[in-house]
Formats: sequence, structure tokens, C-alpha cells
Amino acid sequence: MDAVEERLASFYLGQRYDLAGGKLLDETTHYDARDLTTHAVCLGMTGSGKTGLGVILLEEAALDGVPSLVIDPKGDMTNLLLTFPELRPEDFRPWVNPDDARRKDMDLEAYASQIATQWREGLQATGQGAERIRRLKESADFVIYTPGSSAGRELSILQTFKAPDLDLEMDDELIRDKIETVVSALLALIGIQADPVRSREHILLSNIFNGAWRAGEDLDLAQLIMRIQKPPFSQLGVFPLDTFFPEKDRLELAMLLNGLVASPTFVHWLEGDPLEISGLLRSPSGKPQVSVLYIAHLSEAEREFFVTLLLEQVVSWMRAQSGTTSLRALLYMDEMFGYLPPHPANPPTKKPLLTLLKQARAFGLGLILATQNPVDLDYKALSNAGTWFIGRMQADRDKQRLLDGLEGVQVTTGGTTRAEFDRMISALGSRVFLLHNVHEDHPVVFHTRWAMSYLRGPLTRRQVQELVAEQVPAPPHPEPEAPPAAETTALAGKHPPAHQPEASLTAGLSQVPPQLPSSVKQAFLPVRISLSAALSDLTGGRVEAGGRGAGGEGLLIYKPGLLGSARLRFVHTKSRQTHAEEVTYLLPLEGGSQILQWSSAKVELDTQDLASQPERGAHFAELPAEMGEAKRYTALRNEFEDYLYYNSSITLWHNPHVDLYSEPGESQKEFQRRCRKAAEDASETEAEKLKDKYERELQRIEDKLDREKQELREDKIEHDARKQEELLSGVESVFGLFTGRRSSSRLSSASRKRRMTRQARADVEESERTIETLEDEIDDLEKEARREVDELKAEWAERIDDVEEVEVTPRRADVQLGLFGLVWQPYWQVMAGDQVLSLPAFKAQPA
Ligand SMILES: Nc1ncnc2c1ncn2[C@@H]1O[C@H](COP(=O)(O)OP(=O)(O)OP(=O)(O)O)[C@@H](O)[C@H]1O
Ligand SMILES: [Mg+2]
Repeated sequence: MDAVEERLASFYLGQRYDLAGGKLLDETTHYDARDLTTHAVCLGMTGSGKTGLGVILLEEAALDGVPSLVIDPKGDMTNLLLTFPELRPEDFRPWVNPDDARRKDMDLEAYASQIATQWREGLQATGQGAERIRRLKESADFVIYTPGSSAGRELSILQTFKAPDLDLEMDDELIRDKIETVVSALLALIGIQADPVRSREHILLSNIFNGAWRAGEDLDLAQLIMRIQKPPFSQLGVFPLDTFFPEKDRLELAMLLNGLVASPTFVHWLEGDPLEISGLLRSPSGKPQVSVLYIAHLSEAEREFFVTLLLEQVVSWMRAQSGTTSLRALLYMDEMFGYLPPHPANPPTKKPLLTLLKQARAFGLGLILATQNPVDLDYKALSNAGTWFIGRMQADRDKQRLLDGLEGVQVTTGGTTRAEFDRMISALGSRVFLLHNVHEDHPVVFHTRWAMSYLRGPLTRRQVQELVAEQVPAPPHPEPEAPPAAETTALAGKHPPAHQPEASLTAGLSQVPPQLPSSVKQAFLPVRISLSAALSDLTGGRVEAGGRGAGGEGLLIYKPGLLGSARLRFVHTKSRQTHAEEVTYLLPLEGGSQILQWSSAKVELDTQDLASQPERGAHFAELPAEMGEAKRYTALRNEFEDYLYYNSSITLWHNPHVDLYSEPGESQKEFQRRCRKAAEDASETEAEKLKDKYERELQRIEDKLDREKQELREDKIEHDARKQEELLSGVESVFGLFTGRRSSSRLSSASRKRRMTRQARADVEESERTIETLEDEIDDLEKEARREVDELKAEWAERIDDVEEVEVTPRRADVQLGLFGLVWQPYWQVMAGDQVLSLPAFKAQPA
């Protein structure tokens, strides 16, 4: 066939086909691009050629400069990236399916060569050649995104929790819809199929979103989890919050979400390009983009989650567009199964799909929905679809269901009866479609043209990774002329326009990262400070968001640095403690040759935060020449390791008196408390000993005292007896005086008695003195004991704070390097007057 005629805004789909004769007719089938704004549905059994047709439609759109979003649940839409203008066997070779080759008993070379021939001939037969493929490749960027994985480009869903940029009054319903959808998607992801009106989970989350968004606050998952536990309101409807949804149950819900966030693979959902439609439809330079959203690797629940969020973003994007009658963008969904089921099924994807089917037309967004399960579609929802591509059906049940469904649809109003449709559908072969377009008078039967993309079938995640790796880094080619301005800016959204705002803003910068040997590890620090925040930092908050004044336009640039992370282990044998520490060092590499100051480069940074891809549209500062060589990194790595070995230490406190060591991370207060306790124990023991000593001494004195008292009692008795005796002998002598009988002996005996009495009194007095002395002694001893215990306690109290520092350093083997390599730090480059300023878009906290 001769080269096909290229017509503007007209899609070349294939060749007319004669069903009765079973042969191709000499007439091409073209389709008016604008008709796609009323959406297309594509049905047919497996192998009928739906995916092939989808690829053709997307190729035609790309050739016309119409960008598309392609939801790819099976992985075969990735084939859009397999276009080889030269159609050489070696182009096909890495992508052919080895199993197919084996089945044909061919080696890969031979098989690839056969495929190349097949493609050349197939294209030629449908009037296409190398030139058309080349034009296709140039007319758009083809990109594969892998949400939740780093195989292709990553997509961050964080965007979808941000407060929508909408007019609260005007778009009230829109906001409510958005909240309902986002909440349903989130709940579905954690396994809760919630009815928006009845489920308390749904009601709680919706209220949290509503409160935040209406206050202009962005949410993220962490905040959501916190607010579930402590919502910023105490009443839900007429019930107190805790009655409606008790705290214990709320905690359970929070834990479910937390489990999701804590899973190690979840980080991939939060990294990469923001899930923002304008960024998916246009490259940063404004070129149309075909974004394949590969979701083959995701679980059923994750797919539903992602597709819902994506659709919701499409709804928001759509509402921000101006009206148009031309086709502005396409949304293609293969394997629609499950996303738009008939009533009463209501997965969270359904609502945004219904909105799009109803409203997208006015904004120039066309939906193409394909499925092999006609039974699983909500035909009511599709009653407005303007184009039906009906392919071969296997089961009569499918055909009848489709015909039933079409009864209510405009399809049957074209004068064609159900019976006629039935007959035609039954006669379709593979790649032959019945095209019913409400904008045309009659249905057309056509055979799809040969696809320019190599329809190789589904690619695995690993193959996607290879395919994407092959494409970047792209050579630094000058961007083609900017496309027509009006349309571009509307679509390009927040991305910088294709022309550079200021020549000096990009001076010395390059659009691609420098080429580095593959052994050198590279990572990108995330953008954490928005341009407006950076600007208002600069001016002390005086600049409005959007940042006029200090240069409204900011360019995101990356500057090189070195990043090293390591795990250090500190072993302290005496206290039998080991302590492990993760450390990260970040060292900017600016200016010429320099001495690397690791000592001031320690930062608080979780290496999990690093991204493997730069932000789109960013520029790169120059890398010092020697940093392009692998051996330089090896040397620096060794230097870093040595630095850590010689300079890392942890300090423990040691209290020699109680022989206690602090634990790493233990606060001084806590350690002091432990020492005080130990000191108190020790002083208690010593005081105990002291008391024993004194008690023994006291006992001795007290014994003596007892004895003395006993003696005193005896002395007193003696004394009393003597006094009695002396009295009696006195009576006798007086008596002798009266009787006139005197006896000298008698007199002498009386005086002896008196002497003895005196003696006895002296004894008493002495005992009394001794007792007094002993009692004084006891007093003194007690006083002394008390004094000594007090002293002891005071001494121990002083020892509590008498600590020394012990330095623990790691052994060689205990310095284990983690990441080491080049890291790119993001900055906002802005003009201030005629000066170029670089404001950090990420600030590492010094550790
Ligand atoms: N336009 C085309 N150009 C070249 N080959 C095609 C084209 N359309 C289909 N084919 C071939 O037919 C095979 C089956 O077609 P396709 O994958 O499009 O079927 P399908 O309807 O999408 O099937 P399923 O429902 O299983 O996904 C493809 O693998 C491809 O080899
Ligand atoms: Mg298919």
C-alpha cells in the first residue's frame, strides 16, 4: 500500500473490511479526533485486538500532539515505548519473548529477525514506514510510571492529600466528591469497604479531611493517623465523638493505617513525581507526553487505590481547564473489569469515572475504556459514549448482554436493528471491529492497521526497569520549538515553561546529571522547602506565596555533595555494654579542589528519604572534574572510613565510688539517680557497721553501769545497816551513863561503829559518782555515733556527683560503611535584581 495520507486531527485506524466477502477493501478508515471527546468503549474477546487498537489510537493521538494517560493493569501498554524506526533485528532482539522463540524452535537472533521482517511488512502493507515511526517518537515523550515501585518512574500520592486549590463556595460539591473518593480509596486499601453514609470510619475520615481542607491545610498520612486518634472536633452529628466512635476503636483504625505506612515498601508510594495530571500530560519542557501508568505489579486493593486517586486527580485537573471543543488529552483504561460495574456494585473508582463520563467532554478530555467482559459494565453509565468499537465475541452470552446494554444506548438509533448488529458481530474476526460512531450515519467494519509499536505483550517489572534505564540519561539535546503557547501553558500547569526565564539563571547549569561510572552511587535529596517558603525565609516572611519581589520564577537546581552513612558499634567491656549508632554525613562539593571537612558534616538524615531520581525539569550544577572518576570515590570512601574510626566515640560517665557506668543515651539526671540510689545503699551499709561498733561499746558501758548500780544498792544497804548499828550502840552508852557503869571497851566500840558508818557512806558516794561518769560516757558515745553517721552520709552525698568521663571508641571492624557516593542537593535558583541567589530546597539538620 502507498504511504497513508496524513490528515490533521484525523486518526488513521485501518482499512475497511468486507464482512460478507471476508476481505480487506481498498479504502482506509479514518476517525475524527474530536469524536473522542464523547468517549469510546472497546469490547471484544481475548485476542480480538483491543489492545492493538488502543495502541493505534494512542499513537495517532501522539502524532497529533495530543497527550495521554494510559492505565495499564496488564503491562502490555508499555509496548508504546518499543518503537524502532530502523526496524533492525537487533532493535527487537532484547524484547522478543524467548518462550515464543523456543516454541518455534528458533534461536533468539533468528526469531528477532523474523519479527523485524514481520513488522516491516505489516507496516508497509498498511502504508507506514520508518518516517512515520520517527515522527511518532519525536512528537511526544513516552514515559512509564510504576506507582509503589522504583522500577519505572516513581509517583508520589502525597499530592492527593493536599488541600485542593478550589473555590470553597463555588466548588462545594466537587470538594465533597473528592473527599468521598479519597477516603473510600484509603479505606479500601486497608480492607474496609465502606458505605460513605453509614460507615463510621468513612464519616470520621471525611470530617477530618473536610476540616483540614476547608482551613486550607494539607494532610499527609502521619497527620491523618494522629487526627484519627485525636480528632480536632468532639461532636459528630448529634453524638459526642466518643459515643459515635469510641477512642479504643479509633485507635484500631489508626493502627491499620499505621501498618500501611510502616511497611517498608510503602515509601515508594511517597517518592517521585507528584501525582499531578498536568505533569503527566506534558514534559517539563511542554512537550506532549504519553504516560503509561504500569500497575501490573500491584495487588487488587492497591490498584483500586491508585486508579481511584488518579481518576480523582483527573477530575480536579479537568475542572481547572477552560472549555474547548477540540481533543486536549486522552485517558485510556485497558481491562476495565471491576472499575465500572453495574449497580449495586460501587467501588471507589466508579464515582470519579461517572463524573468524567458526564463532564470531561466540555474540557476536551476523551476516555477510551476497553474490556473483554461486556457483562461487567454499567451500560447506563455508558449511555452517552459516542463511539463503540465492537470486536469479536466468543460467548453468545457476552454478545446478548452487549446487545441488551446497547438497547438503551444511542447505538441502536442509527437505523441499524438489533438483528443486524447481531449478525455483524457474529461474523467479526480478530483485529476486525465494528465501529459505531454517533457522529456518523452508519456503522463501519474495519481491520486495524499495523501498530507501529512492537506489540510484544506484557513486560515484567524487571523489563520495565531495563526499558526505563535504557532511556535515561537522555542526551542533552536542545528542546524543540515550544508548541503553541495558549494550550501549552494551560496543560503544563505548574511546570516551568519551555523557554528559559533568564539566561543567567541557567548559566553554568546542565539539564541532565553528569555521566558517572556505574560503580558510583548517586542519590537525590528530596525537595522539602517550597519555592515560596524559601523566598519568605529569605525575606523574613514578607513575601507572599508565589514570591514576587525576589524573583517570581524559581529554577530547581541540584548541587553535588558527598554522602556517607555508616553503622558504628561501640563495645565497653567493663560495663558489658554495646551500643550501635547509624550516622550520616553530608558534605557539599562546591568550588574547586578542597579539603574535606568531615568533622562539621554530620547530619540528621534518614537515608530512606533519598530519592533515586531527580525532580523533573531540574538543572544540575557542574561537578568538580575529579569527581567524575570512580577511583576518586574509592579514595574518599577510605578516607571517610578512617575518619569515622579515628574520630567517633561515645562518652560514658563512670562513678568509681559506686562503680557504675552510664548507659549510652542515658540522661545525666537518670544516671545521677542511679548513682544516688547506689550511694544511699552503700552509706546505709557503712552506717550499719558503725552502729554495730558503737552498740558494742555502749553495751560494755551499760553493763558497767548496771554493775555499779547494783553496787550502789548494796552500799546503801550497808550504810543503812551501819547507821542502825551506830544508833543502837549510842543508846547503850547513854544507858551506861545513867547506870554509872562505864566501860572503856564499850565506848571504843561506839566510835568504831561511827567510823564504819562513815566508810559505808563514802562507798555510796563513790558509786554514785561512778554512775554519773558512766552516764555521761554513754551520752558522749551516742553523740559521737550520731556525728559519725552524719559525716558518713555527707561524704557519700558528695560522691554521687564525683564522676569521670570514659571515652569508648569503635574497633575497626565496628565501623561498617553503608551508603557512600554522590548526592544531589536541591536548591531554588532565583533572581534578586541582577543577582542569582541559591536558596536551599532541603536543609539537613546538623547532628
Ligand atoms: N494493530 C495490530 N498490529 C499488529 N499486531 C496486532 C495488532 N492488533 C493485534 N495484534 C496481534 O494480535 C495479538 C492479540 O491482540 P491484542 O493483544 O490486541 O488482543 P486483546 O483483545 O487486547 O486481548 P486480551 O483481551 O487478551 O488483552 C497481539 O499480541 C498482536 O500480536
Ligand atoms: Mg488486551
